Parts: sequence; C-alpha cells; structure tokens
Amino acid sequence: MREVKRLLSNRLLMVADLAVPCEKVFDIGTDHCYLPIYLIQKGICKTAVATDIKEGPVRIAKRNVRLFGMEKHIDVFVADGISHVEEGCCVIIAGMGADVIVDILKKDMDSAKSCEWLILQCQSKTERLRAFLWDNGFAIEEEALINDRDKIYNAFRASYTGINRPYTETDTIASEILAKRHHPLLPGYVSGYIKKLDDMIAGYREAGRDFTEEIKLKRALEELL
Ligand SMILES: C[S@@+](CC[C@H](N)C(=O)[O-])C[C@H]1O[C@@H](n2cnc3c(N)ncnc32)[C@H](O)[C@@H]1O
Repeated sequence: MREVKRLLSNRLLMVADLAVPCEKVFDIGTDHCYLPIYLIQKGICKTAVATDIKEGPVRIAKRNVRLFGMEKHIDVFVADGISHVEEGCCVIIAGMGADVIVDILKKDMDSAKSCEWLILQCQSKTERLRAFLWDNGFAIEEEALINDRDKIYNAFRASYTGINRPYTETDTIASEILAKRHHPLLPGYVSGYIKKLDDMIAGYREAGRDFTEEIKLKRALEELL
C-alpha cells in the first residue's frame, strides 16, 4: 500500500490524532484530501466524504484518491460548508481562519449540533472560535498543540451539549485542558500571544488610544506562565 503519512504536516497529524474511530468522516475544505486518505489507511474511519468550495482543490483531491486507490472509500465533490453532512456524523474543518470556520458553523447550526464530534483547527484567532463554541452550547472535549515549521497550532474536538459555558478572555486564549496537563508548548504559545499584545499596546500608545483592557489581559496571561 502506498503510504500517505509522509505527505502530512505535523499540523495535520495533530488533527488526525484527535479523531475518535468512526464509520465515516466528513472533511470540509479538504484541498489535497491527504487527511481522509490517512484516516482510512490508519483504520480510524472506514469511509470519508471530502469536500471543498473550489473546483481546483476537488480536482486535486480526486486525483489523490485515485493515486492512493481510495475510490471505493472516499467521495469527493464541491460543497460549501457543512450543509451536506449527515446527522450524527463526524466532521473535520482544518486549515482555515477562525472567522471562516465560525461562518461555516453559523450557516448550518443544526448540522453542527447534530455531529457526534467536530474537530476544528484554525490558522489564527483561535480565541474567537473557542468563544463561539462556548457561547453556542458546544463543549471542547479535547485539545492539542503542535509546533509546525516554527508556528504553534491549536486544534480541538468539540460536540454540542446545549450548555453555554461561562469563560474569561484568558480561557479563550490558553487552553485549560492543556494547562492542567502542563503541555510543554503552552507557555510558548501564551508568550507569543503576550508579544502580540505588547505590539498592539505600543501601537495604541502611539495613536493615543486607550489600552487598559490590553494591559489587564496581558497581566492575566503573565500569571499563567
Ligand atoms: C488552506 S486549505 C486547508 C486544507 C486542509 N483542510 C488542511 O488543513 O491542510 C483551506 C481549504 O478550505 C477551502 N474552503 C474555504 N472555505 C470553504 C467553505 N466554506 N466550504 C468548503 N471549503 C472551504 C478552500 O478552498 C481550501 O481548499
């Protein structure tokens, strides 16, 4: 069997590690389709539906499905978001900005709520995605962090519980799950966030804008280190 693993980035391997074994996975924004091919090769799922909003990635995904002999296991087609997912299914949305992921979920909340699990991995503004999930009755059950080519990426597995969780701004930035486990990458991730706040504060100071909230957040984050 031709192995796809060597083509997966550390980020995508982290996403795959969060998957709980299941019959069928829906990979939204699949691009090259490496992730579903890997999940099937590893026996984590039996079949997959891989979709993308653009024709180009779907063409590449179909070519890879043929290359890895997965035609009987993976369905590939063009689709926007999660409107096509089946009730009780397992969904992965990875490699997009938090705002795009939030928009996809917002557009089809019933589908999102019906998922057995959702694995979400965003490239930026993870705090917005966490806040959206907690404000809308989703619970984050598992989290991961990985260093991939000098950038730290988050990913989490969530599902709908109907209970809105109260949270602080700090909770949306530094994962409690990973803090409890003393994840070795978490201090670096938090320090990176503090550095961004410092740059923001410097910009606000120069522009004569108020930065009290940013200072408060910075102090709260520093306490976690
Ligand atoms: C950077 S790629 C990520 C590919 C892969 N999921 C990964 O994590 O490496 C993002 C993909 O999402 C697709 N995409 C963006 N918005 C989408 C939407 N609303 N529905 C489906 N696919 C979308 C893009 O066309 C692109 O192929």
